[in-house]
Amino acid sequence: MKLIVTGGAGFIGSNFIFHWRKAHPEDTIICLDKLTYAGNLPTLKDILDAPNFKFVKADICDRDAVYNLFETEKPDVVVNFAAESHVDRSIEDPSIFLKTNILGTSVLMDACRKYGITRYHQVSTDEVYGDLPLDRPDLLFTEETPIHTSSPYSSSKASADLLVLAYHRTYGLPVTISRCSNNYGPYHFPEKLIPLMIINALHDEKLPVYGDGKNVRDWLYVEDHCRAIDLIIHKGTVGEVYNVGGHNEMANIDIVKLICQALGKPESLIEHVTDRKGHDRRYAIDPTKIHNELGWLPETKFADGIKKTIDWYLNHEDWWQPIIDGDYQNYYQKMYGNR
Ligand code: NAD
Ligand code: DAU
Repeated sequence: MKLIVTGGAGFIGSNFIFHWRKAHPEDTIICLDKLTYAGNLPTLKDILDAPNFKFVKADICDRDAVYNLFETEKPDVVVNFAAESHVDRSIEDPSIFLKTNILGTSVLMDACRKYGITRYHQVSTDEVYGDLPLDRPDLLFTEETPIHTSSPYSSSKASADLLVLAYHRTYGLPVTISRCSNNYGPYHFPEKLIPLMIINALHDEKLPVYGDGKNVRDWLYVEDHCRAIDLIIHKGTVGEVYNVGGHNEMANIDIVKLICQALGKPESLIEHVTDRKGHDRRYAIDPTKIHNELGWLPETKFADGIKKTIDWYLNHEDWWQPIIDGDYQNYYQKMYGNR
C-alpha cells in the first residue's frame, strides 16, 4: 500500500508515520508537509533516506503541487493531519486556519477524486462538538452529538468535516473521519499545555494556567490515537465518523501539579493568568463505537504515559531547545507577556 500522510512533520503525524512503518513495513509512505512553525524536519531525520519513505515539502492548498504529487505517486490512501492546530493562535488570527484547514482539505479531496484512491482519512477533533458542563459528568460526546464550535480553530475543523462528508455523499469519495481528544507524548510542540509546562518547569519559569485551571480535557497517549487511525483505515466503514478518546478526564491544574511533582519543582511556580477567550470548559469522548465495531481501546494508562512523556522531554533537549530558541520566543512574549 502507498500512503500520502500530510502534516507528518508535526506532532501526531510523525508519531503516526513511526507507528505505520513499524506495523506495516512493506508499505510506502510519502510525507507531504509545508513545514510551518509547527513542522519540524529533524523529527523525521532517522527515516529521511529510508527506501520506502519520501518527504515532500508542499502546501496542501497548492493545487498544482498536490496534483503533481498525486500524478507521480498514485497513492492508495491519504491521511490528512496537516492543519493549523493551536486554538490560541486561531483566536489571534483565524485566516490561516480557514485557508489550511478548510481549503487545503478540499484541494486534497479534489486530488483524490481526480486520481482515484481507496481511502481518504480526515483527522479531526472532539472540539467540533463544543464543550460540556463540569457538573454533568454523565454527558459525553458521541458521534451523534451536534456540531457546536467555540473557536476559529474548531470551526475550521468542523467545516472541513462537513466538506469531507459532503464529498462522500456527492461524489462517492471513500472517506472516514476520526474525532479525537487531547493527545500527549513525544514530539508535541512546546506551545501546547503539557510540553509547555514541562519545559517551563525545567527552567524554573512561571507555569501559566488559564483562568481557574478547572477546565477538563480527556487525555490520550498519541500512540493509542495512531493505532485507532490504523484500524479505521483497515477496518472502518466508509462514510463513518469514529470518536477516539482516552476515558481519562483531567483538570488542567491537576496536570500541572503532577508535572511539578514529577520534576521536583514547587507548585509556587504556578500562576493563574487571564483566561482563553471562549475557553471550552470540558471535553469528554464516548469511544463506544470504535470499541464495539473495531475492537479499539486506549492501552496506555495516564500515569505511564505522562512518565514516558516527561522522560522523553528530559532526554530530548536537542529536539526542543532549537525550537524554543527560534521564533517561539516572540510567540511566547506576545501570548504571555501581558497576560
Ligand atoms: P501540529 O501543529 O503539531 O502539526 C501540524 C503539521 O501540519 C505540521 O507539520 C505543519 O507543518 C503541517 N502543516 C500545517 N499547514 C500545512 C499546509 N498548509 N500544508 C501542508 N502541511 C501543513 O498538529 P498536531 O497536534 O500533530 O495535529 C495533527 C492533526 O490532528 C490536526 O489536524 C489536528 O486538528 C488534529 N488533532 C490534534 C489533536 C491534538 O491533541 N494535538 C487532537 C485531535 C485532533
Ligand atoms: O481536544 C483536541 C484538541 O486538543 C486538538 O484539536 C487541538 O489541536 C489541540 O491543540 C488541543 O487543544 P486544546 O486547546 O485543548 O490544547 P492546549 O494544549 O492548547 O490546552 C489544553 C488546556 O490547557 C486548555 O484548557 C487550555 C489550557 N492551557 C493551555 C496553555 C497552552 C493553559 O492553562 N495554559 C497554557 O499555557
